[in-house]
Amino acid sequence: MMKNNKKNILDALNFALDLSYSAGKILLKYQTKLSSLEITSKQAQGVASTADLASEKFIMKQISKKYPNHDILAEESAYAQFGDAKEAYQVFKEREWTWVIDPLDGTNNFLNGLDYYAICISLLHFGKPVLGVVYRPSNGDCYYASSFGESRFSNLTKSPKSKKLFSKSNKKKLSEAMLSTGFVTEKGKCFDTEFDQFVQIMKKSRGIRRMGSAALDLCLVASGVFDGFWESGLAPWDMAAAGIICEQSGVKVTDFEGRPFQPFTASILAARPPFYKELKSQFKR
Ligand code: IPD
Ligand code: CA
Repeated sequence: MMKNNKKNILDALNFALDLSYSAGKILLKYQTKLSSLEITSKQAQGVASTADLASEKFIMKQISKKYPNHDILAEESAYAQFGDAKEAYQVFKEREWTWVIDPLDGTNNFLNGLDYYAICISLLHFGKPVLGVVYRPSNGDCYYASSFGESRFSNLTKSPKSKKLFSKSNKKKLSEAMLSTGFVTEKGKCFDTEFDQFVQIMKKSRGIRRMGSAALDLCLVASGVFDGFWESGLAPWDMAAAGIICEQSGVKVTDFEGRPFQPFTASILAARPPFYKELKSQFKR
């Protein structure tokens, strides 16, 4: 089995960057023929299209070729296998190496021609992310990180040059903050709790956006555009890559109870300290 050392993780990170770029080309191709895409409804878990499936098939094939002994937890295949039984994913916490893939985060945006969507690729070592890539093919923005270095940002289509992600502390107050969130309600649960929470924070903050891609929202916290993000009911593929990108750029990532981030968590709350503390205080039950 592969050793968890710097050389292997950086090799895997470069591989994941290449993969996301190629998968991005697939999504961009499908973006030009939206009306001909087949769309399947996944009951409580939104929709999937020919584009999600083609991107996932490509990514999985390349990973299986290069890392035949690694496990893969990819959104559409996992749904086909386990349906809504999310507890089933927990077994991947125990596996030595698992690639966690969202072939298209922001499917609803994509299907409506809104260019806010991304490909997410992460590698877990016994359930802990060691690398993450979030790539937005519509404009080439790419966020990535590994456990052996800080988070970086580059534009894959314009220039391979990368820069360090925003790493200052955030001394804003909630009244000055612009936040982002998403709703598990689209999956048919917790409507009242989520909206109560939203209203409370909306009243006290400068504004809240609901953009439609949890992974990109988290990367915008890492890059300092948003002051914080929260959502419950996300799946590991929505959070694994962006979670390590946030952590490596100095963002504090926990669940609503303040427990340290792990991709199988039931809720996520991300903000840079010391502002994190004030945002977290809004989640006291
Ligand atoms: C969705 C997006 C959305 C979030 C949903 C996710 P998908 O992922 O990240 O922002 O609110 O909870 O399911 O289905 O487009 O990959
Ligand atoms: Ca998806």
